[in-house]
Amino acid sequence: AEALRIGVAGLGTVGASVVRVIAEKQAELARQCGREIVVTAVSARDTSRDRGIDLFRTAWFADPAELAANAEIDVFVELIGGDDGPARASVKAGLEAGRHVVTANKALLAKHGVALAEIAERKGVLLNYEAAVAGGIPVIKTMREALAGNTVNRVFGILNGTCNYILTRMEAEGISFDEVLKDAQRLGYAEADPTFDIEGQDTAHKLSILTSLAFGTRIAADDIYLEGISNITQADIRAAAELGYRIKLLGVAQRTESGIEQRVHPTMVPTASVIAQVHGVTNAVAIETDILGELLLSGPGAGGNATASAVVGDIADIAKSRPGFQHGPVFGRPAKELKPYKQAK
Ligand code: NDP
Ligand code: HSE
Repeated sequence: AEALRIGVAGLGTVGASVVRVIAEKQAELARQCGREIVVTAVSARDTSRDRGIDLFRTAWFADPAELAANAEIDVFVELIGGDDGPARASVKAGLEAGRHVVTANKALLAKHGVALAEIAERKGVLLNYEAAVAGGIPVIKTMREALAGNTVNRVFGILNGTCNYILTRMEAEGISFDEVLKDAQRLGYAEADPTFDIEGQDTAHKLSILTSLAFGTRIAADDIYLEGISNITQADIRAAAELGYRIKLLGVAQRTESGIEQRVHPTMVPTASVIAQVHGVTNAVAIETDILGELLLSGPGAGGNATASAVVGDIADIAKSRPGFQHGPVFGRPAKELKPYKQAK
């Protein structure tokens, strides 16, 4: 098959990591997808900054919407951020131009996801967003594909890496909220405006997407009870610890007798519980269903590599979505490379 051409708008923490991973993993991706994946066009604001990536043979567009609509690409990848402005305009332009779109932008999906999905459906293209919820954890694919046929009763978890990183280090090191937040920003975990993290909106955006997938309802981020962690002090954390609890920012969506309840708030969880053992930038999502029972997914929830892993997975899915494509058996290495296991004497 011909190479899949990718246009990436936004070359910050996530965008630069995506371009780097696609270049570094060129051979691995070609083997897995049976075709090459090549970044042919990019867009960012600052044309002079060294981003540690090779853009030598890549077309540069000042306007992401222009890239999305007119560059020679098959897939448009939006990694700008924001629930409107250039992110929305470019995703819309890409879909309208018949390009597949990949985005990590939960704020955009929480506000305009339904309208954008309608365009994708009308145009017969894919809109993939694995990275938008819980970073590198494949929760969207799990809910959309693996759990088909299950009825979900509850989905909840730690959905914001910045907040969990802050709470973990406040407890472990006794340092102040502001000090840890600065580190989360330096490490690329926080949103461009970190109030979205600490006041809970980012968790609410992600929860609204999960709710929609879990319960088949339209995304309704404004209907979520919302309380962030900005008022949590060392005294709160110590008091919880003395009682045998840890404070975690949870997003919860569940069926109740009066409808689907959605809430985001700091929660005291027993120190011995699995969710209390989720530390640092790690996220965790618990899904309770009628057929499967309880499923817990956990893994890196933010940062360049974790997020790029999910974005590249979405791109690879598009590369593979062609009639007759077969996984492993066709493109795998010869079986003779495999060494038989020998038990030590
Ligand atoms: P950054 O702020 O690091 O990067 C944003 C990028 O967008 C920058 O390269 C910036 O350009 C570019 N940009 C901004 N405005 C424009 C514009 N008008 N035209 C062209 N380019 C523009 O953000 P992140 O990489 O952290 O996040 C990107 C997206 O991924 C967001 O939606 C975020 O919510 C999401 N996300 C982030 C995660 C993370 O861990 N960071 C995890 C999961 C999702 P320039 O560099 O020139 O300023
Ligand atoms: N700011 C977000 C977080 C990025 O800390 O979880 C990942 O969505």
